[in-house]
Amino acid sequence: MGFKIAIDGPAGAGKSTIARRVAQRTGAIYVDTGAMYRAMALFLTRNGISADDAASIAVKCKKADISIRYEDGEQIVLLNGENVNAFLRTEEVSQMASKSSAVPEVRAHLLDLQKNLAEAYDVVMDGRDIGTVILPDAQVKIFLTASAEKRARRRCDELIQKGENVDYEEVLSEIRERDARDSGRETAPLTQAPDAVLVDSSDLSIEEVESAICDIVAKRKQSEKKEA
Ligand code: DC
Repeated sequence: MGFKIAIDGPAGAGKSTIARRVAQRTGAIYVDTGAMYRAMALFLTRNGISADDAASIAVKCKKADISIRYEDGEQIVLLNGENVNAFLRTEEVSQMASKSSAVPEVRAHLLDLQKNLAEAYDVVMDGRDIGTVILPDAQVKIFLTASAEKRARRRCDELIQKGENVDYEEVLSEIRERDARDSGRETAPLTQAPDAVLVDSSDLSIEEVESAICDIVAKRKQSEKKEA
């Protein structure tokens, strides 16, 4: 079995930035499972399905062929053969992904893809249920979080940098809405695995979080070597 690092946590905690850096430092592949849920959401919106129509989502999701390719270490998501990376970060897709990811058929459809990647490579995989459902045997599990206010502030800064107009209160309320949906759903809710290490990034820089996690990984690898 390869070395698996699971990073779970709420939206905007910095999971993808950190996971990408930890993957680079440890020579693993970064698997962004949120992007798979987003590709599914894009497929559903393109097919005119409403985010609240769980019955149609459950049927239609089976027609989405989602796969992953890596180009220069970057994850490319293919939806029925098309590279859809450029379409995954809109607010419409975020909202649809948050709702459609609660539908059990959607989760079942993406489960094998995630498990197979972890079988084939050393991975740093981020999402909501990686340490609890997808990789319960991961050697390192991190629950990365930050206060809703800090996450909203970071999101606003990101959007401002892109030249977009933002309203902090609106961003904060969207984050709270998504938190409630991700944690409150019945199937694979966002929860900290009992054996995950909690990292609160509210008052830490990206570099500090990265090095805290890399220390945990190094210690675990050392203890595995001793055991062998
Ligand atoms: O991490 P993200 O914001 O890109 O994820 C998009 C949505 O997908 C988010 O609302 C939660 C959902 N998701 C999930 O349910 N399970 C995962 N493993 C990853 C993401």
